Amino acid sequence: MIFCRLGGQGFVGCNHVYFGIYSGRKFARKRGHKSSMQNLFAVILAAGKGTRMKSKTHKVLHPVCGKPMVQHVIDQLHAIGTSKTIMVVGYLGETVKAKLSSEVLFVEQEQQLGTAHAVMQAKPLLQDIQGTTIVLNGDHPLFTKETLQRLVETHQTSGAAATVLTAHMQDATGYGRVVRYEDGSVERIVEHKDATDDELLIQEINTGTFCFDNQKLFAALEKVDNHNAQGEYYLPDALSILREGGERISAEVIQDVNEAMGVNDRLQLAEAEKLMRERILRGHMLNGVTIVHPENTYIEADVVIGADTVIEPGCFLRGQTVIGESCQIGPNADLRDVSVADSSNISYTVMHESSIEKNAGVGPFVYVRSGTKLAEDVKIGCFVDLKKAELGSGTKVAHLAYVGDAEVGENVNIACGVVTVNYDGFRKHKTTIKDDSFVGCNVNLVAPVMLEKGSYVAAGSTITDRVPEDSFAIARQRQVTKEGYAKLLMEKIKDSNK
Ligand code: UD1
Ligand code: MG
Repeated sequence: MIFCRLGGQGFVGCNHVYFGIYSGRKFARKRGHKSSMQNLFAVILAAGKGTRMKSKTHKVLHPVCGKPMVQHVIDQLHAIGTSKTIMVVGYLGETVKAKLSSEVLFVEQEQQLGTAHAVMQAKPLLQDIQGTTIVLNGDHPLFTKETLQRLVETHQTSGAAATVLTAHMQDATGYGRVVRYEDGSVERIVEHKDATDDELLIQEINTGTFCFDNQKLFAALEKVDNHNAQGEYYLPDALSILREGGERISAEVIQDVNEAMGVNDRLQLAEAEKLMRERILRGHMLNGVTIVHPENTYIEADVVIGADTVIEPGCFLRGQTVIGESCQIGPNADLRDVSVADSSNISYTVMHESSIEKNAGVGPFVYVRSGTKLAEDVKIGCFVDLKKAELGSGTKVAHLAYVGDAEVGENVNIACGVVTVNYDGFRKHKTTIKDDSFVGCNVNLVAPVMLEKGSYVAAGSTITDRVPEDSFAIARQRQVTKEGYAKLLMEKIKDSNK
C-alpha cells in the first residue's frame, strides 16, 4: 500500500525516513521533506512572550493537533524545501530549543524590540548569501505548503524585493493594514496602533508572512527606526524603505483566510485546533478513508491511514500512528504511536507504542501497553491487559487476562482469568509460552517460567516450573466430594440460625 500525507501536510521528497515494524516488514515514514532549494531560507519569529496565553509553556510549544504549533510551521517550510530555517527565540528560549527538531538553527533576541529587530538577529547567518528569505511568525500554524509555495513563486516571478502575504478580514482589529496606491500596488503597511481612522477601515491585512530578496532585506532593516506608537522596530517598515529605494513591492492575497489566523490566547488555540483537525480529517476522507462522524473524531497531524479503513466515532489517533487499508477502528479507540496492518479491527481500546499485524482483532475493552506486538490473526477480547507482550499468529486471549513481559508462540489459547505473574516486588520476569499450547482458566504463570511447545495447563493451576513439550501440568489441590453431605450441612446451618 502507498501511504501519503494529507491536505496541506503533503510530503514531497524523502530526506528523512523513519522506520517501524509494519506487517512483518519495515515501513518507511517520510517526514515532510522536499530536497532543499539552495537559495530559499526562512526566519521564524518566536521571541515574544505571548502573555495572553497565561502559561508557563512558551506559546509556540502549545500543541495544535498533537504537535507544537511552531512545528507545523517548520514542517511546511521543509516541505517547500528551505535550505536554512532559522528561528528567533528569546523568552523561554532554552525550552523552545530543547523541544524542537534539530532541523532548525536558533538565534537569540535578548530584548524584544520589535519584529524588524528580531529578524536582524538572523543577519550573521544569512547576510552573505544570495537568495530568497521567507519571514513568518511562529504562532501562525495554519499556513499550508501550497500557500507558502505560491508566495515564493509570486515573489520570484514578479522580480520584487519584497512580497507580503495579505488577507481580507471582516474584522481586521489588531492587524497591520495594507495601504495600496490607486493603481493597486502596495505603498506600505500601517500598524493598527499607528493607523488613521480612514486606514482602520481597510480590511486587507498583513498576515505577518513575507518573502524578501535576502540581501536587500538586511540592508533595509538597517534603516528601520522605532518612531511609532509602540516604540518598536517594525518589520513591515522594511517594505516602505525598499519601495523608497526604487524597489518593487508585491503582494499575494491568501485564498483561505482561515490560514492567516494567529494564536494569541487559549480561545484562538482552540479555534486553530478545530481548523487544523477539519483539514486533517478532510485530507483522510479525500484519500478514501471513511470517517463516520468527523465532529467526534480526533486525528493528529502525522497519522497515516490506508484507503477503505473505517474510523468509527470516539477515536483518538495520535502521534506517529500508521493504520493500514480496510481496517475497522472504533468505536472508541485511543491509539498513540501504533502501527496496525491491513484488515485489522480495534474497538473500545487504549493502545500505545505497539504493533498489530494483518487481520487481527482487538477489543472491546482492551488495554495494550507499550512494546506489545501482535502477529497476524491474533484475537484479543474483553478486559485483557497486555504489556510488552509478543503474541504469535493465531493466538487468542479472549477474556479477562493479564499478559505482561511475555513471549507467546503461535496458535496458543490463553483462557479466561490467566495471569502472568511477572513482578516480584523488585524486578520484572519473563513468561515464555511456545506454539500450540493451551493455558486453562484462572492459571497463574509465576515468572520466570517456560511452557514448551504443545503444553496443556489445567484450569486453576499456579505454575512455577517449566512444563516440557507436549506435557500436561496441573498444580492445584484435588477435589474432595462428600456424597449427600450438602443436605446435612444446610440443615445444620438452618438449625444454628434459629
Ligand atoms: C505583527 C505585524 C502586523 C501583522 C501581524 C500578523 C509587526 C510590527 N506587525 O503584529 O502587521 O498584521 O503580525 O499577525 O510586525 N516577535 C519577536 N521579537 C519581537 C517582537 C515580536 O520574535 O521583538 C515575534 C513574536 O513572538 C511573534 C511575531 O514576532 O511570533 C509577531 O509579533 P507580535 O508582537 O505578535 O506582532 P503583532 O502585533 O501580531
Ligand atoms: Mg501576533
